[in-house]
Amino acid sequence: MTSRDKILSLFRSHSEGFISGQEISRMLNISRAAVWKQVELLREQGFEIAAQRSRGYRLLDGPDLLLGSEIEKDLDCELIGRSVHCLNEIDSTNVQARQLAEEGAADGTVVVADRQSAGRGRLGRRWESPSAVNLYCSILLRPQIPVQQAPQLTFLSAVAVAEILNQLYQLPARVKWPNDVLVGGAKIAGLLNEMNAETDQIHFVILGIGVNLNMTREQFPAQLNYPATSVLLETGQKADRTVFIRALIEKLDAYYLEFKAEGFIPIRRRWEALSDLMSSRVQVDMGNGFLRGTVVGLDSDGALRLQRDDGPVERILAGDVRPL
Ligand code: BTN
Repeated sequence: MTSRDKILSLFRSHSEGFISGQEISRMLNISRAAVWKQVELLREQGFEIAAQRSRGYRLLDGPDLLLGSEIEKDLDCELIGRSVHCLNEIDSTNVQARQLAEEGAADGTVVVADRQSAGRGRLGRRWESPSAVNLYCSILLRPQIPVQQAPQLTFLSAVAVAEILNQLYQLPARVKWPNDVLVGGAKIAGLLNEMNAETDQIHFVILGIGVNLNMTREQFPAQLNYPATSVLLETGQKADRTVFIRALIEKLDAYYLEFKAEGFIPIRRRWEALSDLMSSRVQVDMGNGFLRGTVVGLDSDGALRLQRDDGPVERILAGDVRPL
């Protein structure tokens, strides 16, 4: 952690009062001049810091910057979250997690960023990632499962995100096959899972999770081709990003441990309970035509099982599913 981040963390933990330059310099083992320099740096970055000769400094306001130490503090986790890389700005947390994986980073490593300059969505799309408003994170996993079961982890992350949105903000979040989380039919989170594998062995999987927390209407790209929303737009309240990421890491950790012990069935059950399309009549746009039928469940490889109107159960591996 940089001196700047350590000072910011001290300010935040003394939000009710002042903290003296002397105390900061003692706690961080840096000179008072260095403290002053970091305070100036924070001011340049938009933080409003009061300074009084006799009392010291006090943080009044500033951007909602994520700090690794605040995310990691007393996290209740066994695997996911033991190592958290918290970055100010990165091209894409998925790219960074992949690089860490290739360098040998441990199972469960988390990468979080305040802002992504080249956030990636599915199908080569861009994922809008403005500074200090949303959650952009990637989880590195090294599961010992057959390659064709890797999509199960997408459903695991969708369930975790939907449940946390519900628990923290009482939002009726639902999952949409294959990997969206919606509130009131509008997308609130997207998942981009990438895998590095040989024919019969997974080297690693990256679970990329983007959640629209405090995005305003104006911050969404004008040309989005689907309805989108955020926690702020749904509740009128700002979501605390640190609280969200901590709760998400703990839930992902619990579900991943359960997945390792019991397999996909508990996750599949939860996913099906959170899906609006179970037992519904839908139309699937397959790209080269449409299929109509009733959704009857998920297969173990993540395929959607569709009881076709005109006969057999079809396994849908890709396509856009809409209710009829
Ligand atoms: C989608 O198109 O729905 C998937 C969006 C996934 C966005 C997240 S944000 C964190 C991670 N890093 C990326 O570059 N993309 C994923």
